[in-house]
Amino acid sequence: MSSIDSVLKETRLFPPSDDFRTKANVSGMEGYHTLCEKANSDYQGFWGDLARELVSWRKPFTKVLDESNAPFFKWFEDGEMNVSYNCLDRHLESKANKVAIIFEADDGSVSRVTYRELYHRVCQFANGLKSLGVVKGDRVVIYMPHTVEAVIAMQACARIGAIHSVVFGGFSAGALRDRIQDATAKIVITANESVRGGKATPLKAMTDEALGIGNCESVEKVIVFQRTGTKPDHWSESNNVWWHQLVKGLPDICEPEWMNAEDPLFVLYTSGSTGKPKGIQHSSAGYFLGTQVSMKWVFDYKEDDVYWCTADVGWITGHSYIAYGPLGIGATQVIFEGVPTYPDAGRFWAMIEKHQVTTFYTAPTAIRSLIKLGGDLPKQYDLSSLRLLGTVGEPINPDAWMWYHEVIGGGRCPIVDTWWQTETGSNMVAPLPGAVATKPGSCTLPLPGIMTAIVDESGAPIEPGKGGSLVITRPFPSLVRTIYNDAARFKSTYFPDEFNGKYYLAGDSAHYDEHGYIWIMGRIDDVLNVSGHRLGTMEIESALAANPLVAEAAVVGRPHEIKGESVVAFVVLKGDRPEGEEGKLIAKQLREWVAHEIGKIAQPDEIRFGDNLPKTRSGKIMRRLLRNIAKGEEITQDISTLENPAILEQLRHSAL
Ligand code: WTA
Repeated sequence: MSSIDSVLKETRLFPPSDDFRTKANVSGMEGYHTLCEKANSDYQGFWGDLARELVSWRKPFTKVLDESNAPFFKWFEDGEMNVSYNCLDRHLESKANKVAIIFEADDGSVSRVTYRELYHRVCQFANGLKSLGVVKGDRVVIYMPHTVEAVIAMQACARIGAIHSVVFGGFSAGALRDRIQDATAKIVITANESVRGGKATPLKAMTDEALGIGNCESVEKVIVFQRTGTKPDHWSESNNVWWHQLVKGLPDICEPEWMNAEDPLFVLYTSGSTGKPKGIQHSSAGYFLGTQVSMKWVFDYKEDDVYWCTADVGWITGHSYIAYGPLGIGATQVIFEGVPTYPDAGRFWAMIEKHQVTTFYTAPTAIRSLIKLGGDLPKQYDLSSLRLLGTVGEPINPDAWMWYHEVIGGGRCPIVDTWWQTETGSNMVAPLPGAVATKPGSCTLPLPGIMTAIVDESGAPIEPGKGGSLVITRPFPSLVRTIYNDAARFKSTYFPDEFNGKYYLAGDSAHYDEHGYIWIMGRIDDVLNVSGHRLGTMEIESALAANPLVAEAAVVGRPHEIKGESVVAFVVLKGDRPEGEEGKLIAKQLREWVAHEIGKIAQPDEIRFGDNLPKTRSGKIMRRLLRNIAKGEEITQDISTLENPAILEQLRHSAL
């Protein structure tokens, strides 16, 4: 992977073709600037107009933004609407027979669901939830395979005003339990199994395990979608109900619950700099508006598009750009259950050809691994249906960008490199493809109405070329409203006192280049980005420390060619430091332990054992030094404040 240095020197510019620009929803830089000027001169008018244009209201709002209780901002607060109504009912008149979802299962079988069918299935399942006593404001945890039913479950919650909290199907029972507990969920929706890459994972058994670990008394029922023929080992007649039996005979019409604009739509847990994941709570109207604005401007949505976002609904990208964004705007989208490498590394390209995909949105880590596994494979497929490509989740290195541009996009498709976060709900910095010329590796310019700045520690703007902290200086509709159950943490994490509580602190470092383009350099906190997944170093450390063998652990990231970053753990055992085969065996056990506590995605790639960790005299672990050791770098900095400098030498030679 190219280093930051080579990224800095990137000068290639790719303006949209005349053809793309002419047809684009926002055409040319004049179009972009006109929108920005309107946002600058009349911020509330700008967002108010978009909210009237892109959201269908039951009761129109009269107020746009209330900043009186900052940073607890309110948008459109006296308006009423329902997100599911906006994704389904409002399309019934003009496009009931349009395909909403083309679902391709892991084994390649394909099914299609029209907007009318989706509407009825969501309504029926919503009635199922109601029959179990779920009411507005209740929390429902969704732990599902990436299937149409996962989207139906989310939409059904939105329809009746229940707050969903989707837990990625790759998370373990322990992680699921933590989230169920924090959300005090009433219902868990799961499946007997998920299937990915030909392998089944017993989600129902893992749910049982999560509930069995304890303190999940809030859960009244577990709804089980039957994804495969396998029977779950355990079944409780009183607490478990099959999805298909729940909905049997129920009406397929369900009046939406009219929600206040500010009523929470969902909570999604994400990693931060402590051991406890944060429940990111989003609003109904503001969040939904963010998804619609970006579908229109960034994905340049057209009625005949076949749109495909490869994320899983367990992540924010799957929420905003599968479950809500494309349905809200009435798109036809592909949902793919499986993995990009099964049955071979040509799966994505085969699917683009098969479904005539026009808009393709994926993660740099997927692109890099597919280059490595089969850079020539795309040539076997006809990818001429594509007109727009996107990336999300981490910086893309220019080499991968160029391959994506040339080999996948045939040199003709703009690439929208979209920077955003679970907390921002929708794209923040990204090229509007018919306007902004792209540069490999830069997410370019903020969307109109998104006021970004790059600042130093005191909040003062930083000159181009120098790295600083990326902040957003004005509230925007799709911004996180609070951390579930922890308003104080919300305030101190995102609106810190250093910036007088005024700026939203993204937690990324970035710099401007001479064209004012933004380059994201990485996280400034203890968050790792492994294959585009956010992981807290503290979360992995606490999982390791919970193992009976472990006295102490420190986790750092190391640059990785494909995954962006990999996880390296330094571990001190309660017993003697193991070496050789014994060390390898314990390392293997600890990796399995982390997979069990959090999930496979959090497994350390490397574990090193030491008698101790490098600490300051006040007992603080010097993670910076551990990062140097993990990368095999010389330690050049001053280590005079270290309590135990000799440990560095031991750790340096501790690779197993
Ligand atoms: C990183 C994912 C560079 C960033 C939508 C951010 C990116 C974190 C990009 C959020 C991008 C996301 N270029 N870095 N285009 N997109 N990131 O919450 O560090 O899972 O803070 O949201 O991913 O990760 P999250």
